[in-house]
Amino acid sequence: MLTTDPRARAGAFVGRAEDLAALDDLVRSGNQTVVYLHGVAGIGKSMLVGALVERLAETGIRALRLDCRAIEPTERGLFAALGTDGLESFVRALDAGQTVVVLDHYEVFRLMDTWLRQVLVPALPKGTCLLLSGREQPVAAWFSIGGFRGVPLGPMTPADAGLLLEAFDIGADDAQRINRIAHGHPLALTLAGAGILEQPGDLLAPRCAPAGELEVLRRARGHGVEQLVLGHHPVAVGQQVGEHAEDLGLDLDQAPARAQLVGVGVDDDPAEAVPHGGGV
Ligand SMILES: Nc1ncnc2c1ncn2[C@@H]1O[C@H](COP(=O)(O)OP(=O)(O)O)[C@@H](O)[C@H]1O
Ligand SMILES: [Mg+2]
Repeated sequence: MLTTDPRARAGAFVGRAEDLAALDDLVRSGNQTVVYLHGVAGIGKSMLVGALVERLAETGIRALRLDCRAIEPTERGLFAALGTDGLESFVRALDAGQTVVVLDHYEVFRLMDTWLRQVLVPALPKGTCLLLSGREQPVAAWFSIGGFRGVPLGPMTPADAGLLLEAFDIGADDAQRINRIAHGHPLALTLAGAGILEQPGDLLAPRCAPAGELEVLRRARGHGVEQLVLGHHPVAVGQQVGEHAEDLGLDLDQAPARAQLVGVGVDDDPAEAVPHGGGV
């Protein structure tokens, strides 16, 4: 059921249609023994894997999803988490049909990498796919395993970023501004959305920028920079400085240049375009 409360909608899985379809095809093809999803922290691997597991379950494919952070990185620890007492009984249990075994947060399971490749994978029956999901790229030895496939996960498309922010009641224009800084990174988008939910109101409201930040904005405008992020708030430089500084009763020439620039400009390097501290 659709809900109008952004607090209820925010955080639900959105977008990633192509990534999900590609991963789904790979793991259910029957040709892939190991699929290795990798990407930086917060890029959306766990969310994607969660959506995949749901989709597999809907079509009758068994999926065992484990979080490596909760497993002792030993054979014993892994089999205990899988609910079996060793390799033989695990393989016997898998024989019954198509299964996808997911090890999420695989980056913490580094100690098990060689054992997995040399012992577990060769013992897996046909119809079983091991899906590893972690921050690091697979080590080279994986690529010589038959049926291995590395799948990098990149940023969300601008359309998906818009969908994610829409769940926080952020409209298309503001979403575009936020995404110019978040670059499709879903955790960054979510943090921006959550910050704005916490502090609802106009993103460009003058109260978002205290005096020192206005000083940064003034300089930024002088260098042709259109937009910055202050805290969670993307700020249109021209509007902030030009329209609101006077209303706030701020004398920009006196404002302390203490603000920290945490965002980016348009196409210059903001660190160069907007010097920190010191006089103008
Ligand atoms: N497809 C998505 N839809 C909605 N939110 C997402 C999506 N992907 C990621 N997120 C948000 O970004 C956060 C980080 O994603 P996560 O899957 O935990 O990243 P990773 O596992 O790569 O570190 C999630 O907690 C969620 O808030
Ligand atoms: Mg994760």
